[in-house]
Amino acid sequence: MGTGRPMVSFLLMFFLVLNVPAQRTTTDTPATTSFTFRGFSGNESETRISGVAMIKPDGLLRLTDRNPNVSGTAFFNKPVRLLETNGDSRVIRSFSTSFVFVIIPTSSSNGGFGFTFTLSPTPDRPGAGSAQYLGLLNKENDGNSSNHVFAVELDTVQGFKDGADSTGNHIGLNFNSLTSDVQEPVAYYDNDHPDRKEDFSLQSGKPIRALLDYDGPTQTLNFTVYPADSESKPLRPLISRRVPKLLEIVQEEMYVGFTAATGRDQSSAHYVMGWSFSSGGERPIAETLDLSELPPPPPNTMKKRGYNGKVLALIVALSGVTLILLALLFFLVIYKKRLQRGEILEDWEINHPHRLRYKDLYAATDGFKENRIIGTGGFGTVYRGSISSSSSHDQIAVKKITPNSMQGVREFVAEIESLGRLRHKNLVNLQGWCKHKNDLLLIYDYIPNGSLDSLLYSRPRQSGAVLSWNVRFQIAKGIASGLLYLHEEWEKIVIHRDVKPSNVLIDDNMNPRLGDFGLARLYERGSLSHTTVVVGTIGYMAPELTRSGKSSTASDVFAFGVLLLEIVSGRRPTDSGTFFLADWVMELRASGEILHAVDPRLGSGYDSGEAKLALTVGLLCCHQRPASRPLMRMVIRYLNGDEDVPEIDDNWGYSDSSRSDLGSKFEGNVSSDQTSSSIASFSVTRVSSSSVISGR
Ligand SMILES: *[C@@H]1O[C@H](CO)[C@@H](O)[C@H](O)[C@H]1NC(C)=O
Ligand SMILES: *[C@@H]1O[C@H](CO)[C@@H](O)[C@H](O)[C@H]1NC(C)=O
Ligand SMILES: *[C@@H]1O[C@H](CO)[C@@H](O)[C@H](O)[C@H]1NC(C)=O
Ligand SMILES: *[C@@H]1O[C@H](CO)[C@@H](O)[C@H](O)[C@H]1NC(C)=O
Repeated sequence: MGTGRPMVSFLLMFFLVLNVPAQRTTTDTPATTSFTFRGFSGNESETRISGVAMIKPDGLLRLTDRNPNVSGTAFFNKPVRLLETNGDSRVIRSFSTSFVFVIIPTSSSNGGFGFTFTLSPTPDRPGAGSAQYLGLLNKENDGNSSNHVFAVELDTVQGFKDGADSTGNHIGLNFNSLTSDVQEPVAYYDNDHPDRKEDFSLQSGKPIRALLDYDGPTQTLNFTVYPADSESKPLRPLISRRVPKLLEIVQEEMYVGFTAATGRDQSSAHYVMGWSFSSGGERPIAETLDLSELPPPPPNTMKKRGYNGKVLALIVALSGVTLILLALLFFLVIYKKRLQRGEILEDWEINHPHRLRYKDLYAATDGFKENRIIGTGGFGTVYRGSISSSSSHDQIAVKKITPNSMQGVREFVAEIESLGRLRHKNLVNLQGWCKHKNDLLLIYDYIPNGSLDSLLYSRPRQSGAVLSWNVRFQIAKGIASGLLYLHEEWEKIVIHRDVKPSNVLIDDNMNPRLGDFGLARLYERGSLSHTTVVVGTIGYMAPELTRSGKSSTASDVFAFGVLLLEIVSGRRPTDSGTFFLADWVMELRASGEILHAVDPRLGSGYDSGEAKLALTVGLLCCHQRPASRPLMRMVIRYLNGDEDVPEIDDNWGYSDSSRSDLGSKFEGNVSSDQTSSSIASFSVTRVSSSSVISGR
């Protein structure tokens, strides 16, 4: 290649010979054309450049930069005569071209779209599209036979027209269309092993040499492409084919040049370092382009480890999603925090006038400090607090309960909303409630004297101060009065479920106040549904509770009976299982010594009539059969002396085995199920009686 050319041609960076054609045609265009661009600077006038194409100061022809969706073309500015007509026969003259190019992609996997060497009827490609149209054609004219374009495409992107050009990095021969008639992956034949192809990448960023030779008489087109720094030119062309179709393309005058385009996501800079062309004559051979004579290749600034468009889009999308999720998480955390602080209410919490703000309770109890604890136990911890507001109750007791389920709380709250309206001098006034996290906070009036439990047991032990008989009797009647209110006098029946000394608070006037009503219910509700749960305190639980599990006013009466006996006797209802207060009193009564049951610490300081009355009523209330127990209304009448106390019938204990029956039942429940120790609501000291949560 390049031999046999006049020496002078090698001396010129740009060499153009216009040989006078042997036979004149109707136009002035010569039959042969030869030119060589060893770099393009200074010879702008010899080229026709459009789109983003430009000649760089260093002599490189840059068809496209790496901006997306651009195209550029560069044609030799004079037409070449490739068609030779002899009467009816039309022959395409032989031609040869050689060019050295560099493709620098945005990143090794993100180049595009490619460029072409083109025979075109025009010196530019107006209306041509970017991306897969390679600056050559467009959507409308692609494939139209009126195009009269032939192109060798050097494509770096696969997949135009869904598999037609299915390989990226390929060479294609295109006739009027971007769908290649002939297509080959980019490779060159190894001269030592002529059957072996060496693959290489068009978009390596290194100079690549392309040779195209067309032989007119045989209509054979040879195309070879190989790295420009190879020691020798491959002897066997990559493509060697007859291309009779070219005859349909080539017109009288054709322009030769390059087109290139980038895609929206895939883009490369396409450079031509040098270009030689020769046509006409016996065997035209384009001049050899020595790398040393060409301008230096463009610096390879491709990002070594880049992402292609799809991956990039994915990353961007994922980042976006992540950001959104983070934002959501952020707001969720804020929301949860506010929820925990009780600032956001669940639907059911709204419109409850007795709901108090956690913030206020937190402040009132000094942040639920330990030194504010005035009682702990099975149903929760009680804190003393003070609310300095216009409210008349500046002292409050806050009971903090952790129920086993919030579902129970919801129902419970519905109930205490109505309980909140309960007003009776013998009931602890429930001021309100607050749900916070998993805790339910109940706010009661603060009752200063502690519980009956502590007055009966702890205080005498500590100070020797024994509750006087009058006070005991007054307390008993007060409790009865409170219970009557719950059972009969309020708008609906309220069952206390846990009547015992620790739930009776004594105020300044030694007036008893029943507290914690309904609380046991919360635990029954909160428990697993497949078990029947009885919540109460050993010794105060009516026998039928262990059988049916159903609380009733009668079971409250039973507990009151035990409590009454306890107040009089100063003895706990049961010890470790051998002593039962009611049975013991019953035995004393049977032997006519019922007053022996009176608390010995009272000495003779008691009214024997009232004591006997109280013990008898207590026994009546402890009847094994619920139906035989008196109503609270009657209990009060008996205690007030308004009505004579009926005789206790022989079936009081149901049967001879009642005692062991009762005992074994309680024991069974205690041993088989959870037992939690309950502490007096407002007492300062621990109480040894226990609450039982039994299930079956
Ligand atoms: C460009 O081509 C002209 C001839 O058309 C030639 O005289 C000139 O030397 C060339 N320029 C360079 C820089 O080679
Ligand atoms: C590409 O650029 C052309 C104008 O050159 C414009 O009409 C077309 O919408 C662009 N395409 C994309 C995908 O940006
Ligand atoms: C081909 O192009 C010509 C001229 O632009 C046009 O008249 C003709 O309709 C086109 N044919 C097709 C099939 O698009
Ligand atoms: C094309 O290549 C074939 C096979 O290498 C060769 O025989 C033929 O001479 C070549 N033709 C041209 C025009 O280079």
